[in-house]
Amino acid sequence: MWVASVAADSLRSLDGVKLELDRRVTAIVGPNGAGKTNLVEAVYFGLTGRSFRTADRRDLIPFGASIARCRVVISGENDDPDHVFMASSSRGEGSRYTMDGAGIERSEAASYRPATTVFSPDRLELVKGPPSGRRAHVDSYIAARWPSRNELRRRFGRALAQRNALIARLREGGGDRSQLTTWNHQFAASGSELAAARDAAVRELGGFFTEAAADLGLDGETDLAYRPGSAIEADAIEAGLEERIENDLRLGRTSWGPHHDEIRLELDGRQLRRFGSQGQQRIGLLALLFAERSAILGSGANPPLMLLDDVMSELDGDRRGRLVGRLLDGGQSLITAAEPDLVPPVEGVRRIAIEELTAGAG
Ligand SMILES: Nc1ncnc2c1ncn2[C@@H]1O[C@H](COP(=O)(O)OP(=O)(O)OP(=O)(O)O)[C@@H](O)[C@H]1O
Ligand SMILES: [Mg+2]
Repeated sequence: MWVASVAADSLRSLDGVKLELDRRVTAIVGPNGAGKTNLVEAVYFGLTGRSFRTADRRDLIPFGASIARCRVVISGENDDPDHVFMASSSRGEGSRYTMDGAGIERSEAASYRPATTVFSPDRLELVKGPPSGRRAHVDSYIAARWPSRNELRRRFGRALAQRNALIARLREGGGDRSQLTTWNHQFAASGSELAAARDAAVRELGGFFTEAAADLGLDGETDLAYRPGSAIEADAIEAGLEERIENDLRLGRTSWGPHHDEIRLELDGRQLRRFGSQGQQRIGLLALLFAERSAILGSGANPPLMLLDDVMSELDGDRRGRLVGRLLDGGQSLITAAEPDLVPPVEGVRRIAIEELTAGAG
């Protein structure tokens, strides 16, 4: 299935804007402030009922208006019927998310629409920022790739919070020390499952990551590496917690465990986060997103729609060409660029000036 069209009836600066997407690559070109990111957000909002820019969906309501609303049409393969997804956010009535006119849960909707992968300049924080962002990203990839593992992160988070709460009480002289055994056990069981899933995900992605990075022109030896913050086996985690208990009681928190895991993007053995150039970090993030897409495709699932906002800046001409080549290899994507010259003039890319869409709309 693929996204046939989007109608941004009203969203931020967009008013009655309609776009038909190519089955392969659609490039939206136009100057700063013209509404390109808003259009990418409209596709994402229509598809998922959420925004990748903000947690507060009321931000999407055009200034001075009372409702934001987008519709997206999904076409199926062969005889599968089309589906229309609609998302809205209003000040008075909150949010609505429907398929073919009826309310639908996000989890259920996921099987009637393509998954999405988003690149935006803000997401470079994933490469440049602290490990917590990479952990969260890999955990949501795990949930998408193996739906049955979807609860692992939450379960571990709960065990960590409970153990920390008990440790804080013990430190203050309260609490019941015998309860620690129970929480150590729960922490180790859920932590071990989470660590094993991260290990499996990173192993599966590693080869695809290296391949995508080479393809996109990240010159050198690249690696995606999982560095556990504790251990993977439950017994080892439990034993490690017991060894460190005095230290934890002194600190008032759990000092060791999968909440200190790191997922590293490396170039020639060094972290892109610390030593990569802007362009290298950008390609590193793209390589990770492409690796996820390859793994999902390899599992037989529908490829995600790639939404790549402002993806060409900081890339040289050669690497812009490689990126478009990779996008043309398969799957559907929507990219934006502020300058027409940033989109390589190759066959197979549908190029649209944002002004064509916004002029006369409304
Ligand atoms: N809720 C809103 N209502 C109306 N306009 C908004 C709202 N939120 C943002 N805008 C405006 O939308 C305009 C277009 O923003 P957008 O981020 O889509 O531009 P862009 O084409 O992506 O530009 P750039 O190339 O700089 O990234 C901006 O002028 C912004 O002020
Ligand atoms: Mg933008």
